[in-house]
Amino acid sequence: MVTGGAGFIGSNFIRYVFENTDFKGRIVNYDKLTYAGNIKNLDDISDRYLNSRYFFIKGDICDYKKVFSTLEEYDIDAIINFAAESHVDRSILLPEDFIKTNINGTFFLLEAGVKHSKSKKHFRFHHISTDEVYGSLGKTGYFYETTPYSPRSPYSASKASSDHLVRAYHHTYGLDATISNCSNNYGPYQFPEKLIPLTIINAIEGKDISVYGDGKNVRDWLYVTDHCSAIWLMIKKARAGETYNIGGECEMENIKIVKAICSELESLYPSKNNPFLKDKKYEDLIRFVKDRPGHDRRYAINCDKIKKELGWKQSYDFSNGIKETVKWYLNNKDWIESIKSGDYKKWIKKNYNNR
Ligand code: NAD
Ligand code: DAU
Repeated sequence: MVTGGAGFIGSNFIRYVFENTDFKGRIVNYDKLTYAGNIKNLDDISDRYLNSRYFFIKGDICDYKKVFSTLEEYDIDAIINFAAESHVDRSILLPEDFIKTNINGTFFLLEAGVKHSKSKKHFRFHHISTDEVYGSLGKTGYFYETTPYSPRSPYSASKASSDHLVRAYHHTYGLDATISNCSNNYGPYQFPEKLIPLTIINAIEGKDISVYGDGKNVRDWLYVTDHCSAIWLMIKKARAGETYNIGGECEMENIKIVKAICSELESLYPSKNNPFLKDKKYEDLIRFVKDRPGHDRRYAINCDKIKKELGWKQSYDFSNGIKETVKWYLNNKDWIESIKSGDYKKWIKKNYNNR
């Protein structure tokens, strides 16, 4: 059972498993379909496997009864928990949903997992987490699996909390649980609230590209299918109770990311041919705006452990990953339009009206 499988990484993961591994079984995608969940992200997989090897259940991970009955009905061997509120800026505006889904939701999944696992010979709970739980770095140093947690936004605090619960359920109840802490992902199907898809779409439409603060905050970027391959290896090979860091070993300042996207667009869709740009270049759209409150300065992950112990490695570097990503958004304007015109707007209106 993949929770949050209609989101960005979850949908890439389901596709990855069907297309790139020797998996012969069934996947149940259990997703609440919040503003960030889009069932169309898996149209190709539905066409091939719906109700034979791929099943979709619209459900909330906070709904213990529904989670448990799904585990039983489909005789689930593993939960891979992607379901979360995932955007830092939203956690600053509307923290409640982050507490509900990321903390309470993980708790209900763990409870259901423990009960269900009693009737199973093998059962694994893999929890998808983030490097943000480790806090913020100065100019040097890295996050290791042993780095103490120091979350600093409502989002990262809620993810840290869920990681602690997962470890507690392993130690206390013997649940076979594993955790991965990954750096910033990018690639196809990412909701256009995050830096890379938002920049690409604004640039294509000739809108301002906002860079927070001085643009020198650093993130470590990983192409999404490289995250998926690491998770798959962990599900198959990691010992119960293990944690692995996953990262791109690709530290970049935000301003460099934004400029790289502009330059990729200049070669794939030159600004002189884009009617929204008139006589501007893509880079002319860049604006430095007010900083994110509590903005973490630098993340950098050390992922030697998963490389050495499980033999994982990245297959994309930033230059080919960003080319693929920009191409995908240029070729999938219908997907962008469906997101812009869909329930997303109603959801934003309902939830953000009074903030
Ligand atoms: P996303 O926001 O694109 O997708 C989240 C999915 O979870 C959506 O399909 C949504 O409908 C679903 N969901 C939300 N609340 C739910 C609930 N209560 N019950 C059931 N489903 C629910 O997120 P993403 O970027 O794909 O991230 C997936 C996971 O990976 C998250 O746990 C996130 O913390 C983690 N992560 C993300 C990144 C990144 O760069 N995006 C990096 C490291 C870790
Ligand atoms: O590090 C892993 C985390 O990466 C994941 O756990 C989160 O789910 C994911 O959202 C991401 O968090 P960030 O806050 O790093 O991602 P975001 O794309 O929002 O921002 C990346 C950087 O770009 C960050 O320093 C803020 C900055 N930024 C972001 C936006 C949306 C801008 O300068 N302008 C923007 O418009």
